[in-house]
This record gives sequence, structure tokens and C-alpha cells, in this order.
Amino acid sequence: MDNLLSPVASYYTDKIKEFGPQPKGVDWNGEDGQLLRFEQLCRVLDPEAAFSVVDVGCGYGALLDFLQERYRDFQYLGIDISETMIETARDLHKAAAHAHFLSGTEPESPVDFAVASGIFNVRLGSDEPNWKAYIRDTLQRMHAFSKRGFAFNCLTSYSDADRMRADLHYADPCELFDLCKREFSRNVALFHDYGLYEFTIVVRK
Ligand SMILES: C[S@@+](CC[C@H](N)C(=O)[O-])C[C@H]1O[C@@H](n2cnc3c(N)ncnc32)[C@H](O)[C@@H]1O
Repeated sequence: MDNLLSPVASYYTDKIKEFGPQPKGVDWNGEDGQLLRFEQLCRVLDPEAAFSVVDVGCGYGALLDFLQERYRDFQYLGIDISETMIETARDLHKAAAHAHFLSGTEPESPVDFAVASGIFNVRLGSDEPNWKAYIRDTLQRMHAFSKRGFAFNCLTSYSDADRMRADLHYADPCELFDLCKREFSRNVALFHDYGLYEFTIVVRK
């Protein structure tokens, strides 16, 4: 793993060790926000037909439980840079035959859809230009390995200044919308209307 992601992996490994498999264990404030994020991201999925989906930065696999309650026919792959997250996710979902968890940053072969919740938020010591380049590179890779579409969220640069933290990254939604529209697809949606200090972008191909 490169210098940029190693500290991020350690950060999340510490969280899951401290709090266990619950929203605080992946650094979310609570379940309501976590589920609200999943609702936005899952707009990219196809409710009518079978699909495969990769969950980039799956944490302990909370999205899998969310999908199981709403979709019938899908193959799920959760990937995460924290080995401890992956071990925890595997332990929790032993019975899920249509799901797998792997450590890393991308799947070995293309999938229908890719989603990523929370992977662009914690930048720790990386400076802004490097982190922006990392986001761009990660989106290019998600585009490359997703056949039908992908979705991701970011903290927003429209957050209240007095509540912003130096170790977090607040992205410009207009800049990322423009990137997705120019480089990935004509069909891009930006959702910035769900009450959290963040936005979700859905790219359909
Ligand atoms: C904020 S947590 C969210 C976990 C999960 N998506 C959820 O919403 O419950 C972000 C997770 O992404 C992982 N992560 C961060 N950057 C990643 C990357 N580039 N590739 C894979 N996993 C990553 C972290 O280890 C952490 O488990």
C-alpha cells in the first residue's frame, strides 16, 4: 500500500478495534447517517435485474446487510485497505453465500456497479493537491472496473467553516460533478439535499 493510504488504513484499524462492528467503528456518528448515505449511493443500482456490486471501503460490511433487505439477486464484493475490517466483515457475514470480502483497493475483474461510502474523507497528513489527485485516480479506476455505473460520497466544501477539521477533506461538489461529466459519462447526478455535510455523485453509463 502506498504512503498516502497506509496511515488511513491504520486510522480505521484503530477505530474498528476500539468500537467494534458498529457505525463508530468506521468513524461514522451513528446508524441514521450511515443508512442515509447507503440510500443515496444505491440509487445507481438496478432494482429490477440481477447485478454484481463492489463496495470500495466496505468497513465491516454494513452495506451488505442493507442490500440484503432490499435487493434479491446480487453478487457482493466488499474490499477494504484495513485487514482488520475485512476479518471483522468476514466473521459477521459467514452465512452470506453471494458475498465475499477482500483486502485491497479494487476488484480483480469488472463488476456491474461500484459504490464507495466514506473513502475520500480522512486525509490525515496528506496535502490537498495530493489528496485531490488520489480522488481523481480512484474515480478513474472505479470507472474502469464498473460496467454499468458507480457512486461515491464526499464531505462538502459547503460545510460550516467553524466545524471543519484539518485532517478531513472537504471536496468541491461542482468540481467533481464536472470531472465525472467530462471524463466518465453524460449521465451524472449530484445529490446534495439529504441533510448531511456531504454530497453523493451517481454516474450511470
Ligand atoms: C468511513 S469508513 C466507511 C465504511 C463503510 N463504507 C460504511 O459506510 O459503513 C471508510 C472505510 O474505507 C476504507 N478505505 C479508505 N480508503 C480506501 C481505499 N482507497 N480503498 C479501499 N478501502 C478504503 C477504510 O479502511 C474504512 O474501512
